[in-house]
Amino acid sequence: MATSPNASNSSIPQSTLTVLAELEKSFLLDDDKLRAIVEQFLKDFKLGLGTYGESMAMIPTFVTGTPNGTEKGTFLALDLGGTNLRVCQVQLHGDHTYDIQQQKYRVSDALKTGEATALFDYIAECVDTFLTGLKDFRIAGEYLHLGMTFSFPVEQTAIDKGKLLTWTKGFSAKNAIDNDVVQLLQDAFNRKHIHVRVTALVNDTVGTLLSRAYLTGGCILGAIFGTGTNGAYVEDVKTIAKLAGSNNPAVPKEGKMIVNCEWGAFDNSRNVLPVTPFDNKVDRESINPRYQCFEKFISGMYLGEITRNLLLYLVDSLLLFNGHSTKQLNTHYGFDTALMSEIELDTTVPVPNATVQPQSLGATPTVNGTQPRSFTRTRGVLTRQLGFKPEFVTDIDCEIVQWACRVVATRAAKCSGCAVAAIIKQTGADKDTGVIPVGVDGSMAEHYPLFEVRLREALIVLVGEEVEKRVEIGLAKDGSGVGAALCALQAAKQEVLPVP
Ligand code: GLC
Repeated sequence: MATSPNASNSSIPQSTLTVLAELEKSFLLDDDKLRAIVEQFLKDFKLGLGTYGESMAMIPTFVTGTPNGTEKGTFLALDLGGTNLRVCQVQLHGDHTYDIQQQKYRVSDALKTGEATALFDYIAECVDTFLTGLKDFRIAGEYLHLGMTFSFPVEQTAIDKGKLLTWTKGFSAKNAIDNDVVQLLQDAFNRKHIHVRVTALVNDTVGTLLSRAYLTGGCILGAIFGTGTNGAYVEDVKTIAKLAGSNNPAVPKEGKMIVNCEWGAFDNSRNVLPVTPFDNKVDRESINPRYQCFEKFISGMYLGEITRNLLLYLVDSLLLFNGHSTKQLNTHYGFDTALMSEIELDTTVPVPNATVQPQSLGATPTVNGTQPRSFTRTRGVLTRQLGFKPEFVTDIDCEIVQWACRVVATRAAKCSGCAVAAIIKQTGADKDTGVIPVGVDGSMAEHYPLFEVRLREALIVLVGEEVEKRVEIGLAKDGSGVGAALCALQAAKQEVLPVP
């Protein structure tokens, strides 16, 4: 996709175009780079499956089967790790369908960064409030079963046990790392005499995979492209070398197991990702410098901040807004990734099946079925959200801001394509002939214009067009809730608990 700012009909001065072209090069992932990233992924998968170390955690989840859509039951589920805490009641009907009732609760920065007991007490309170508001809940036995989607790296030792390895995505609550997060939540319920039993622990990627399999009958990869990014896939137990020789009775000798890659930590040593000074600034000022390198290239939590740094550089170079900024643009995390989505809608137009057509910088506006270049939304964001005075925002400013969003988001989507391609190769799905079902969730996948188109461009380079066509990417909305319910069901079956 040509985004290169050299078209002759742009009103941007040639000297500025030259600077932008140079900057764009540093964000570019050419075909060789894409291939090098996937190669590194495959090497790191192997390392991570061998041992917990510096690379991706490759966490065995103890989920040994995927649903086929006939599962039935009513479960409580909670989901911590995205923008909000969600509590849900999920009814699986056993015919690929479900009903969900849910409530979102805000998690303040104070809770994210305070004492873990305060955070877990708050979660327990939210569950209590949710239950109070529920009209009907069928209790089987003394306790309600709750599946917990906890979207952080947790080293699991059973379907309902696992210690937190590290926080990500702006969380840093004290006295949680190395503790069993199921126990932390169970203790909070017990302190408050709430009759809920946490029976399953699941990462959101695993939830997405399970939920997609429930909906459609199969899935090889569950991926999140949202506040953070990560993927879980179905692996042969025999390939998970770090489980070999384990005396944990929960470890099966053979068969399949879902592995949570924690691919947000890919290339923390920065071997292969083309890191720019704008990325370095985001990383340095983040809560976890030098960690989650890949996540910082891709996810909604960071893309706005990378773009903000790029825009400020252009302001300081006197190429944008006549050298002026605003309080909002000067604020750390003051430019939300959702604003990039809004801005990119000015130059892209939705067509069926989430395919949208891009326009390159300076391209002639077209009207035959695509949207001509527009500055309406961009101008709206710049004036209403970022506080620029309307009379000081020129069309050239808008065009440059659109370019910046496009460059950062294209790199993100292509990196996402690398992760998907790596899983396709790891599982051997490229060698088969059938459909390759992939479940995705998260705000980038759901809302960002062109995200899938750009991801697929990378896939074509990496696995070829024939395989790319077989990749069926489907949104697993409610993936975390439904997945947690499915996991609670599996736990109930394994433990012979009464199924509600
Ligand atoms: C972060 C978490 C990971 C989660 C992902 C998406 O990378 O570490 O566990 O799956 O965000 O929410």
